Amino acid sequence: MKAAVVLRFRIQAVIFCCQNAAPMWGTSMSKVFARACTLAIATLVAPVLAVGIVYAQGVPSSYMPVDIKETFQAMYARFTGQKASIEAEHQRVLAERYDLGNHPSSATMTKGKPLQERVRVKLPAGVTWDQLANMSPEEIKAKGLFPKGFIAMPHPNHHEGGMVFPHQEIDEVKRQEGRDLTRFDIDYDLPDHLLPEFPPPIYLTTRPDLGDVSHGKLVTNMNYYELFNGILNPKQLEGLRLLTTPFMQQQFNRTEDRKSVLASQGVSCFDCHANGHTNGATHLAPDVRPQEFRHRIDTPTLRGVSIQRLFGSQRALKTVEDFTEFEQGGAYFDGDPVIAQKKGVNIVERHSQVNFMAEFQELLDFPPAPKLDVLGKLDPNKATAQELHGQEVFFGKGQCAVCHVAPYYTDNLTHDLHAERFFSPQMVNGAMAIGDGPIKTFPLRAIKDSPPYFHDDRLLTLDDTVEYFNLVLGTKLTSEEKHDLVAFLRTL
Ligand code: HEC
Ligand code: HEC
Repeated sequence: MKAAVVLRFRIQAVIFCCQNAAPMWGTSMSKVFARACTLAIATLVAPVLAVGIVYAQGVPSSYMPVDIKETFQAMYARFTGQKASIEAEHQRVLAERYDLGNHPSSATMTKGKPLQERVRVKLPAGVTWDQLANMSPEEIKAKGLFPKGFIAMPHPNHHEGGMVFPHQEIDEVKRQEGRDLTRFDIDYDLPDHLLPEFPPPIYLTTRPDLGDVSHGKLVTNMNYYELFNGILNPKQLEGLRLLTTPFMQQQFNRTEDRKSVLASQGVSCFDCHANGHTNGATHLAPDVRPQEFRHRIDTPTLRGVSIQRLFGSQRALKTVEDFTEFEQGGAYFDGDPVIAQKKGVNIVERHSQVNFMAEFQELLDFPPAPKLDVLGKLDPNKATAQELHGQEVFFGKGQCAVCHVAPYYTDNLTHDLHAERFFSPQMVNGAMAIGDGPIKTFPLRAIKDSPPYFHDDRLLTLDDTVEYFNLVLGTKLTSEEKHDLVAFLRTL
């Protein structure tokens, strides 16, 4: 109010000046009057100018700074100094959204790691899941009752972004290769029990008779040859060599704005796609600016890429070859060839490298699903009554099969679930939540092996995904139907 009155007074003073300047021209009053008028105009114009300058300094840019003015030591001190408070704030946000506890079920992933059970997304105070399911999206939005964990999940440091590895990957790569994937500015944010098993097994489409060909090891540049020589052809073997060879990118390289303590040789494809699967490593999607609109992205498994037709959660590239080629040229998920060039870009050649890398990826099969028949449905002689009922819900009342089509449980399309019907645009610890737009229907075959769920890790258990779709699709499932649906998802 006060500011508005002052502004009105200034505007009136300037108008008075303009109206009376001409008649006073040349009179003795003119000097005093001119001085007063200059002051009035200046006090009005200065704030306008100041806003203009601030705006000019904050010109939106698609680019990251290339020319770094700070030494490595100064940046190291700055980033390590703020690490604890950034992590504490992020953990506070996670604790507000989820129960991160260790609640193993008796069901396991392919090699025996227990699946986590229970819905982990926290309910807002005073409502139950059933009450929410009976409200309209408009009512949930108006009352601010959409559970926080159903809204976009921020990166461990969304403002800074970049790739972050879980500690098991860091420890094993260090042990085998002496290469250090630790970032000094940030650690991975989710506990081990919520991540895929490590190291995960590998199944080849060409040699189903061999079972898990990883022999319980993490495949790296050091051991790929002894593990795969004699099983793969020379092209595939060369492709696997390249998939385990580190290349420079934004956080791991030799420049002063890297995030590794020592100059780094870079990262390999399999540092994230561990054994052709995923270890949960995270990053930001490259496809949008400014930074807060970029989605956190979970590393998807490469198992079953051979039956898929779209690659990337939103970019929908059309071939594995394209995906393999483009990641390196854009500094890995920063969509920025300028930075890639600065950090030491390695353009992989299409005919002798990209194709070989893609050929190996296309061999990565889904793990066996002993209860499914050739159509991808449950064999009634092997499944329990609960699982069979879950299948009925999946293909019926739950509407899941509209998008998740058997036998691989994907329609190879993207869909916009329009979750923004349920909440108002908001900032979540540096991430701007506006709704996701269309996202790829990730296949549900072997989905039990790939927590956390969704393109941005926002859902921690299969139980969470069922509650999410129950709201988003408005299917009003009973609690028995929800439990049985989870039991079915675990068999896929
Ligand atoms: C930082 C960890 C990381 C590294 C390193 C990495 N990826 Fe990925 N990869 C991801 C993430 C995250 C996505 C999902 C991208 C998205 O959602 O748009 C992805 C997606 C993919 C996809 C598409 C999968 C799908 O289901 O849509 C392919 C294929 C792929 N990566 C291959 C590679 C290859 C080849 C390399 C090495 C040249 C590589 N990746 C290196 C994390 C990584
Ligand atoms: C309108 C199409 C559609 C329907 C119907 C649908 N889904 Fe999905 N599903 C998707 C999309 C798109 C994603 C990816 C969402 C994301 O990553 O943000 C997804 C992701 C998932 C995931 C996680 C996949 C992953 O790799 O993280 C699970 C589990 C899942 N759906 C289960 C279900 C179940 C159970 C139902 C029925 C209750 C269902 N879906 C109904 C489109 C659909």
